[in-house]
Parts: sequence; C-alpha cells; structure tokens
Amino acid sequence: MLLNLHYQPHDDMNEKKHIVVLTGAGISAESGVVTFRDIGGLWHIYNPMELASINGFRRNREAALDFYNKRRAQLATVEPNHAHKVLAALENDYRVSIITQNVDDLHERAGSTDVLHLHGELSKVTGMNNPNDRRCITTKPLNEPIVIGDKAADGSQMRPFVVMFGEPVPNITRAHNIVEQADVFVVIGTSLTVYPAADLINAVPYNTPCFIIDPNEIDAATDLGFTPFKDTACRGIDRFVELLNEL
Ligand code: OAD
Repeated sequence: MLLNLHYQPHDDMNEKKHIVVLTGAGISAESGVVTFRDIGGLWHIYNPMELASINGFRRNREAALDFYNKRRAQLATVEPNHAHKVLAALENDYRVSIITQNVDDLHERAGSTDVLHLHGELSKVTGMNNPNDRRCITTKPLNEPIVIGDKAADGSQMRPFVVMFGEPVPNITRAHNIVEQADVFVVIGTSLTVYPAADLINAVPYNTPCFIIDPNEIDAATDLGFTPFKDTACRGIDRFVELLNEL
C-alpha cells in the first residue's frame, strides 16, 4: 500500500537526495530471522565466542559450520518484508545506499541495488586461509551445507563468507565514505553495540536529518540527537517515508 505513496523527492538541479541507511538484525526480524541480543536471540542460545569467532572456529570447525549451515538453510525459507521492500521502492525517487550488518540477502531480494555488507553474506563461501581474496569467494546454494573437506579455490577449508569476531571489517572504510555523503541518514534495527559498525553514526555530516527505527530506545543514537521512531521496522518505515516528504 505504502509503495503507491507519492514521494516528493529533492530534485533541485536534477540531483536526487541521498538517503543512507544502516541496518541490523531488527530489519529482518519480521521476516522470521532472529536477532542476536533480544530475548530468545541467537546470542542467548549460542555462545558467539565458540561459534562466531575466528578462534572458536579454528577450535571446533564442525560445530561452527553446523551453526552457519543452520542459518544458511533458514535463510532459504524466509522472504523480504515490507521494510526491505519500501527501501527498494525509494530508489524510484531517491539515491538510496544501504549499509547492512546483516549476512542475509533480503535487501537484495527486495530489489535494493546499492547494498554494502559489513559482516559478509551467508549466500557466499570462501577459504580459511585467504577469506577476503576475491578468487576464493563464490556463491553456494543456501540449502547445501558446507562440510569438512570442502575446499575453496586456494585449497584451504571452505568456510562461510562472514566476518567473525576477531577478524577485520574490510568494508568499513567504504561505509564511512558513504555515510559522509548522506543527505538523510536512517538506522533500522540495530542495537549499535558492535564496532566498528556502531561508530558509523558519528560519521554523519553536521546538520543531516538522522532517524532511528527500533522498538527499543537506542541511547547511542538518541544521545546524538537522532529522531527515534520507537516502532518495528515495518511500521516505522512508513512513518519515516511520511516524514521524508516534509524534509
Ligand atoms: P542485535 O540483536 O544486537 O540488535 C537487534 C536490534 O533490533 C535491537 O535494537 C532490537 O530492539 C531491534 N529489533 C528487534 N525487533 C525489531 C523489529 N521488528 N523491527 C526493528 N527493530 C527490531 O543485532 P545487530 O545490532 O544487528 O555480527 O547486531 C550487530 C552484530 O552483532 C551482527 O551483525 C552480528 C552480531 O554479533 C557478527 O556476527 C560479526
């Protein structure tokens, strides 16, 4: 329904206004992907240092692969929700850059064309020895598990193409550059507790309108003067779009 709203883009001088969006697990919650730190979230069930850190992965590859294989298989069963779709539809009238901490591909499946993944992508695999070497990164169908003995192009054990705790975040510099170009900045569904991603809220240019959509109060953003929509992603995105027309 919202997708039919008449947006009023900023098109003085034929330039589209640039909306930069930082998303986290909360935007995919209404698609059925569980978050990490909410009650019932992944880190209340699993130990991230055992399963999602590079040292844990080296200690027990089988358990870590099983954890990621389950998440990969579950991702194959879910669909983008209204919030993902509205962000994609905004591209008709705005330049929209999405920076996501999510390893799901729901933004892309909704139709967004400019998506930067900070923490990798579950639909891709790479090798243990050279995880960020482009020659080692390939796609693998989500419902095909990665097993011990699967090899990447460099001959090392295949692993998911995700950033684990203890590893660098290669896309963070690109993300900073994008945030610095924002005309409007909106954060959706992240607790802003994991660095360096959480620090992106400090890279927004002075006087840029900033919003956060999250059912919980996120102090890091409200302390900086972000306008909070204390709501779920699917409801909050409609409120955000209504407000966009007034900017
Ligand atoms: P968190 O689980 O830390 O935070 C999820 C946020 O989503 C919380 O602020 C919730 O209040 C909010 N939320 C819950 N339901 C929502 C809904 N329906 N609509 C909107 N928001 C909702 O997840 P992230 O902040 O994404 O990294 O976590 C950051 C990183 O920590 C992840 O990328 C992952 C994790 O460890 C790695 O594994 C490297």
